[in-house]
Parts: sequence; structure tokens; C-alpha cells
Amino acid sequence: MIRIGRKRLWASFFCFTAFFFLLVTLQVVLELGKSERKIKVSSLQDGSLKLEEQQKHAYQFFNKQELYSNTRRVLDADRYPILLWWSPLTGETGRLGQCGQDVCFFTIKRTYQHNHMTKAFLFYGTDFNIDSLPLPRKRHHDWALFHEESPKNNYKLFHKPTITLFNHTATFSRHSHLPLTTQYLEGIEVIKSLRYMVPLQKKNSLRKGLAPLVYVQSDCDPPSDRDSYVRELMSYIQVDAYGECLHNRDLPQHLKNPASMDDGNFYRILAQYKFILAFENAVCEDYITEKLWRPLKLGVVPVYYGSPSITDWLPSNKSAILVTRFSHPRELAHYIKALDTNDQEYEAYLEWKVKGAISNQRLLAAIQERKWGVQDITQDNYIDVFECMVCNRVWENIRRQEKGLSPRRWNAQVNHLSCPKPEAFLFSSPNIRWTSLQEMWIPSFEQSKKEAQALRQLVERNMNFTAQEFWTLVFKEETR
Ligand SMILES: *[C@@H]1O[C@H](CO)[C@@H](O)[C@H](O)[C@H]1NC(C)=O
Ligand SMILES: *[C@@H]1O[C@H](CO)[C@@H](O)[C@H](O)[C@H]1NC(C)=O
Ligand SMILES: *[C@@H]1O[C@H](CO)[C@@H](O)[C@H](O)[C@H]1NC(C)=O
Repeated sequence: MIRIGRKRLWASFFCFTAFFFLLVTLQVVLELGKSERKIKVSSLQDGSLKLEEQQKHAYQFFNKQELYSNTRRVLDADRYPILLWWSPLTGETGRLGQCGQDVCFFTIKRTYQHNHMTKAFLFYGTDFNIDSLPLPRKRHHDWALFHEESPKNNYKLFHKPTITLFNHTATFSRHSHLPLTTQYLEGIEVIKSLRYMVPLQKKNSLRKGLAPLVYVQSDCDPPSDRDSYVRELMSYIQVDAYGECLHNRDLPQHLKNPASMDDGNFYRILAQYKFILAFENAVCEDYITEKLWRPLKLGVVPVYYGSPSITDWLPSNKSAILVTRFSHPRELAHYIKALDTNDQEYEAYLEWKVKGAISNQRLLAAIQERKWGVQDITQDNYIDVFECMVCNRVWENIRRQEKGLSPRRWNAQVNHLSCPKPEAFLFSSPNIRWTSLQEMWIPSFEQSKKEAQALRQLVERNMNFTAQEFWTLVFKEETR
């Protein structure tokens, strides 16, 4: 009797220890996963680190995690749906992610492609490549696209045949499943803040040495053709251009490095101006970057060119000057000159800020309702939220299936990612730089339509294909 009792005691002690050990291991895995992601995100969101560098950071952490999770991973991958990143973006070879009540296994390891638990493939738009797509695609293989960047990166995704291949989307468009439209805005407080704002009297006296307008751009001749516009504008009004594009004024030496773009000193230089030329590199609905938010933060009036629906996102009805309201740069210059000499008219554009009165309910709601933060380690980042959106949807369908219900269908619509063809500004004076647009962006846009067609055909065939097959098909489209 006694011996049996002791055996039981030992057995339960052993069980308890094993359980405790597992619990600790799991905790360590989750914690390591978390800290790794924080690092990745802070570098991703300030945009200053390149992809390889992010991965380097990620891998450093991962080697540690692998020590703990190698054995568990085999078990985990069998119990939870696998969401396979078809991109090295996160650098995570294996992580259990908790998404509300649901748990999914996230990995970038392509060896999981044929695992029966693999339920979704996650793609990162910028490195979405026709090479080695996960084909054949099974019925239960959801495809999810994360693409926060400018359409400059990977035009072929911006056409109906390709975007509609996906089930779940996170893009800059308000129509996507996880809209990232406000991805460059940290919060409402930063645009309300008066921290950098220079009083108008001071700006007026600084005008002796500064132009009314400032332009800082080092990515020259992008699809929006902004440099052509600004070049033309410069023949009607003075513009201080500090960047590489149309450069006519030098930054202080210590600010020349692009990495110092968010430097307070740089902000203070810009804040001295009355107007900032805020021109996006591409013209797409809801594609809005720090080019807009920065002047609003600084208390400088943005002269904006970019998203055609920008009035949906401005803090108030009178907070920016819209380039598209003017028929010619000459007219715009004329208007700015008028504001430059009329303090009352100028200040009307900053009234929202001085009063802290943001009347745009759409903007307020978007910031309040988003589940991710911008440069804020206390909040999830948008990649976590995207992963969890897909995880929750995958689980929803698993549960429906268990109950004998048909799965809920998710499909990307064409407006989840769409941009019109780039257009050149046509001014009377001959414009030498057009060529970059005519010779590069427009042909590349046209070509990308054919690529989208070809890709669609091949994916629908549902067999893996070679790059050569793809290009042959693109070429056929061309000669058709
Ligand atoms: C702009 O003004 C219109 C008409 O007065 C109003 O309906 C709209 O809500 C205003 N928009 C913002 C962002 O304040
Ligand atoms: C995902 O998209 C594919 C292709 O459009 C479709 O066949 C499949 O049913 C979709 N899956 C879900 C869960 O909606
Ligand atoms: C398709 O995949 C199979 C199995 O992985 C491979 O052997 C074959 O070479 C691939 N074919 C193409 C066209 O890439």
C-alpha cells in the first residue's frame, strides 16, 4: 500500500515538474518572439533600415529562440494552423502567435508548404515575385497580401488579375481588409502639438533670408512627375530645395545624412517656412505619407499633391493647399504670393492647429480604431495585426467546418490596391525630364498589366511554372 502511494506521489511530482517545464519553455518562446518583433518594427516603421538589416536583427534573436523551441516546434506545427510567410520579411523561422483566443504558427520556412496544417500564405508586396509561387494552391490555401509601400514597388500587383488572387489584404487603401492609410501618422496629438510651430511674426522676419516655399526630396523623378511640376513652379516663385532633387540650397553639414531626416534640428529648419511642397512619389487614392503629416506637425502649410481623395483625410477643411485646384503652377505661385503678404489669410490655414480643433471625423475614427501603433512599442505593429487578422479568419473557417458549415469566403477586390497610370505634367515650356516618365514609369506600368494577365493565367493553371514560361506568356500578350 505504502509503496503504491509513494509511486503515485512520485508520478504526480514528475508530471507537475514536466508541466511546469513546458509552461516555462512556452513562455520563453512567446517572450522571445515578442521582443524580436518590437525590434523589427521600430526599424521598419521609421523606414530608415533596409530589409536585410531588419532580417539581421531578427536572426540574432532567433538563434536564441531556436535553442528552446526546436523540439516543441514539431508538436506545435501539428496542432495549430500554419501561416507561412512567402517572404523573409519577419525573419521568424517559427513562432506561436496568440491572436485573441486563437493560436497560429507563423513561419518563413518554405518546407512547410506541403504540410497539411498550412492554411495560409502571407505575401509581402515589395518582394512578391513570380518565381516559385506556392503552387499548386489547394482549396484551403488562403493567400494574404501585406503591401504598405508605394506602387513604385511592384506595379504588377496593382491590377485586377493579380490583386484578386488574394483573399486577405492590408494596404494603404481604405477599402482593404486592414487599411494602413494612416501608417505614417503616430497619433492625433502630434499634429495638434505646437511644439515646433514658429510664430508668424518670426516667419515674416525670416522671409528676408528664406523662400516662402521649401522642397526636400531626394528620390528624384518618381512616377508622380513631381519634379517637373516643382521645376515649373520655381520659375514663378522662389523655392528653397534642400534635397538632391532640384537642389539649390544646402542643409547644415550635420543634417546631410538622410538618416537624420527625423532629427529635431531638421524639423526646426523646415518649421521656419510658411509652406512646404508635400508631393507624393505616386498618385493613388489613399496613398498618403509623412510628406503630408510632417508639415501639419510643424505648423507649416502643406502644398499637397498625391492622393486624389486627400480631403477625406485632412484635419480640417482649411489645412492644406491642393495643387490640383490650380490650373497651372503659375496660378499656384500667384496664390501663395498672395497668402505670403496677407497674414490673416495665411493664418486661416493654421487655425485648426492653434485651436486644436480637428473636425475630420474620418481621420479621428481611423486613428482611434486602428489596432496598431506607429513608432510605439506599447502597441502592436501592423504586421502583428495583419498576421492575427488572417489567423482569426482561418480559425473561423476551421470552426465552421467542424460545425458542418461552409467556409466564409474572403476575396480581395480591385480597389484594395489600385493606381491609375502615371501621367506627365504638360506645360508649355519644353521639359527635359519628362523622359524619365515617358521612358520608364509609363512603359513599366503598361508592361505590368501584361505581367498581371500572364500571372493570373499561370496561377489559374495551378501548376508551378518557371520564370521562362512566365516571360514567354508576357511576350505573347505583347504581340497579341
Ligand atoms: C468641410 O466642410 C463641409 C461643408 O461645410 C462639411 O460638410 C465637412 O464635414 C467639412 N470637412 C471637414 C473635414 O471638416
Ligand atoms: C481564396 O481565394 C481563392 C481564389 O479566389 C478562392 O478559390 C477561395 O475560395 C478563397 N478562400 C476563402 C477562404 O475565401
Ligand atoms: C515543380 O515542382 C516540382 C516538385 O517540387 C519540381 O520537381 C519541378 O521541377 C517544378 N517545376 C517547375 C516548372 O518549376
